[in-house]
Order: sequence, then C-alpha cells, then structure tokens
Amino acid sequence: GDRGGRGGFGDRGGRGGFGDRGRGGFRGRGVFICRGKEDALVTKNMVVGDSVYGEKRISVEEGELKIEYRAWNPFRSKLAAAILGGVDQIHIKPGAKVMYLGAASGTTVSHVSDIVGPEGLVYAVEFSHRSGRDLLNVAKKRTNIIPIIEDARHPHKYRMLVGMVDVIFADVAQPDQTRIVALNAHNFLKNGGHFVISIKANCIDSTAPPEVVFASEVKKMSAENMKPQEQLTLEPYERDHAVVVGIYRPAPKKK
Ligand SMILES: C[S@@+](CC[C@H](N)C(=O)[O-])C[C@H]1O[C@@H](n2cnc3c(N)ncnc32)[C@H](O)[C@@H]1O
Repeated sequence: GDRGGRGGFGDRGGRGGFGDRGRGGFRGRGVFICRGKEDALVTKNMVVGDSVYGEKRISVEEGELKIEYRAWNPFRSKLAAAILGGVDQIHIKPGAKVMYLGAASGTTVSHVSDIVGPEGLVYAVEFSHRSGRDLLNVAKKRTNIIPIIEDARHPHKYRMLVGMVDVIFADVAQPDQTRIVALNAHNFLKNGGHFVISIKANCIDSTAPPEVVFASEVKKMSAENMKPQEQLTLEPYERDHAVVVGIYRPAPKKK
C-alpha cells in the first residue's frame, strides 16, 4: 500500500534526481535523498533486484553503472525518522561495525546493512524466534548481517560471535532498555564509540510526561559512562518517542 503522497517513486517521469548532500548534509553517510514530487530517503541496495519487505526500489544509471536504491519509510523505521528529523549524526556509515539490539524481522536492519556496505558488519540481536526467522532469511542474502537470536540482557551468550563495534543502536522497547544497552556497551562498544537509543516513553513509564521519562533515561546513561550528546523527538513520525545519541567513554580500569 502506498502512503498518501509520501515516497515519491510513483511518478518516475517527474523525478528530479538524487542527492547525498541536501537535508542534514548526508554526504559520505550512505543515505541519499531521491528528489521528486516528494523527496524520499533511500539507501543503496546491497542485493540488487531484491526487496526485503515490499519497499519500492528505483534504479539509476550512473555512467556505465546501474545502481539501485531502496525507499526507507520514516513511518516504519525510527532510525529513518531520526535521520529525516534532522539528527546531526547516527554514526552508522560505510565500513562501520554496528550492534543492533531489537532487530525484529530485519526491515531497518536491512537498511543499516546497505549503509555499512560490504566493508561493514551488523550484529543483529533479536530474542523472538518468530521475528528471528525473517531476520535469518534477510541475513542469508546479506552477508554483512550476523543474526543473533538471543536475549540482549545476556551478552555473555553471544560474546564469542561478536567483535568490538563502533556503534550500538537500540530499539528494544523495554523498561530496562538503558541497562540493556549499557551491558552491551561494557562488553562490545569501543572506547569513543557511539550509541543511538530510541526511547518509547510509555514503555518505560506510561504515567509520567514523556519529557520526564527522557530526562530520567539520559541520567541513567550518564551513570554508565554513556555521555548523551544529542536528543530529538521523532515527531511527526512517532508520538512520544525520542532518540538519544551519545559517546561511550569508560573510566580507565584500575589496576
Ligand atoms: C520496537 S521493535 C524493533 C523494530 C525494529 N527496530 C525495526 O525498526 O524494524 C522491538 C524488538 O525488540 C525485541 N526485543 C525486546 N526485548 C529484547 C531483548 N531483551 N533481547 C532481544 N530482543 C528484544 C522485540 O522482540 C522486538 O522485535
């Protein structure tokens, strides 16, 4: 189903081309804007000819090369919403090693896979076996995704599978999400690496105002050597959600 007016791939004739430097300065970040009647966020498809969840694809010829892009709908992905909402940095870029907590069936993970490309890696953690089945299928075609069907509260269970990462992205929608991210950061996040956390206020406390919930989560992060650098709400794509981006700087270990 097409969302009224969004996406802008419907009318190819009227399309105005591609850009990677427009809104938010996307240059070198592996995400692009397809310009048309309505601009659309897209990633460069790693598996040409393949849609992961029915999203639209568009090919363009750049000289001899045929390149294909996949539409990334901000109403279906909090990471896409954060990018279009104008977040300064997601730190997920070509070549990056990313740990993704709450991978679900792998729809957003597939775009992260596009962004990091063949030189990067996505460790995709999901504890639901039902979603995990779809995730495994996505990972079959996309060799830079390492699917991990485990509870993110128990990082020791997948320690042997995972190397140090540049970024942890989390969208587990659990009341103890910040603790879950901290546990994984202490195990796998490089010193100076970054975290990107999507917070759904009413998953944490449905009685407090969202701003109060966000502030209290930010405080928990600081107590775990996770220094928040940026926070934005995901309006108009999601209500009462925020994304917090920050840097991990563990205290030097005592001898
Ligand atoms: C909001 S959904 C994620 C949507 C996904 N990020 C996307 O954009 O497609 C949250 C997911 O986190 C998973 N999850 C929740 N708690 C978890 C845990 N402790 N360990 C691993 N996965 C968890 C849920 O099963 C669910 O699939």
